[in-house]
Amino acid sequence: MSPEVDAVLARLVPHPEDGSRADGPVAVDATDRLLLDEARALIQEHPSDVVVIGDRFGALTLGALASGALRVRAHQDAITAEAALEANTRHAGRTLWAAHARASADAPVPREPAGMGLTGHDRLEPALFAGARLVLLQLPTSLAELTEIAEHVARYADPSVTLLAGGRVKHMTHAMNDVLGASFAQVGASLARQKSRLLIAREPRSDVGPLTYPVTSRLTDPEILAAITPPAGAGSGAAAVAPAATGNGTPGGLTVVAHGAAFAGATLDHGTRFLLAQAHRWPHLSDLQFTPVSSTSDTSEAPTPVPGMDVHPVAVDLGSGTGILATVLGLRYPNAHVLASDRSAAACASTRATLTANGVRAAGVVRDDAGALLPIPDGSADLVLLNPPFHDRAALSTDAAHRMFATAGRILREGGELWTVFNTPLHYRRALERAVGPTEHVAQDPRFTVTRSVRKLLTDMSVTGG
Ligand SMILES: C[S@@+](CC[C@H](N)C(=O)[O-])C[C@H]1O[C@@H](n2cnc3c(N)ncnc32)[C@H](O)[C@@H]1O
Repeated sequence: MSPEVDAVLARLVPHPEDGSRADGPVAVDATDRLLLDEARALIQEHPSDVVVIGDRFGALTLGALASGALRVRAHQDAITAEAALEANTRHAGRTLWAAHARASADAPVPREPAGMGLTGHDRLEPALFAGARLVLLQLPTSLAELTEIAEHVARYADPSVTLLAGGRVKHMTHAMNDVLGASFAQVGASLARQKSRLLIAREPRSDVGPLTYPVTSRLTDPEILAAITPPAGAGSGAAAVAPAATGNGTPGGLTVVAHGAAFAGATLDHGTRFLLAQAHRWPHLSDLQFTPVSSTSDTSEAPTPVPGMDVHPVAVDLGSGTGILATVLGLRYPNAHVLASDRSAAACASTRATLTANGVRAAGVVRDDAGALLPIPDGSADLVLLNPPFHDRAALSTDAAHRMFATAGRILREGGELWTVFNTPLHYRRALERAVGPTEHVAQDPRFTVTRSVRKLLTDMSVTGG
């Protein structure tokens, strides 16, 4: 590796961490270095036609620029990975600019680091790959995600493209070669170095059919059928407002649409099923839940809504995956406004498509980290459903789950409910009580636990205590 590339890589941190934690993630791993070494000559041959997919913290993108690439198009499925690339572009900007100037001595060099030729794409799309001659990929853990990426490269990149896909040897399987072999006529492997290896694919096949993803299936599991049926007497205003769900969503099942990287694909996850089995105990959501400014003690009279506040209940699916829970919310509570959020671009695209396929119209989908950008005021949600992640790529991590608990505590109104399903050994009850409020175990088996947490405002507790 050249000193220029090394100097840039040395500036990177595993954002949002600073790299000081001994057992924390590293900003640049052996796979990044192997990919950059293998790519160097190809980058110099085609400096304007480089695409990077799945960069963890920016090492591949910034390393390619430091190796002489004039233009890099990048796609990262997780918005958290995009944030890391942005942060590291700032950290390494000046060093990168100097490296870039030296590496591309004969080519025009932008005057400012900001003009380094980096373009982010927030989804897999033809424009990301058009004319690409080199694609660098950190191998995903899921074969479905690899399939969707490989099919896009094979269809939309230049026919002379080389796909360099790197991973840790312990996470690589022969099935990955088969996936690449379905889209490329030539697939080989590099020697392993520091427990990483590359798969090298060339000659996109021209005899391929339509893209495999997104895939669609119709779910008719009894838990789904029960959960999408609106509870008797729920949603007092349901008849008065335009229904959120119409037509093909009910009765008879739920259509799920899944892109390759979306959790559980077009199937029902066991944890999600366990949470849905408790739907008969979820709260009834009726309109006008908010306490009006001039309240009346007669609850049979419709209170005047607080100016500016929506009169419909708000139900949220945090970490929505393919959007099954968001869709169930929309079908079960036709008077509710549904919000879904996920950090993954594939998940958000799947959630949007699943909501649409089931006719759920009163819904919004946000790509963000742990619900940070949900477009509602604090203290305004009535119900949050959560099946939190416990992995970040291949590593076990409960960090995002804890940040989602905090988001639920922030957005729920007093008395609003968070329903969570998690792996029983994770023992989240105390954390949920701290972040949201009183929490009970509603259902439990050796694999999964479902809890109900009721939002209790701290100010109320202190008033009571005082
Ligand atoms: C266990 S899956 C649940 C998916 C879906 N709700 C279901 O029940 O099928 C967890 C989801 O959380 C998302 N996720 C992981 N980390 C996240 C983060 N930091 N912010 C937002 N979403 C995240 C994942 O992309 C995944 O879709």
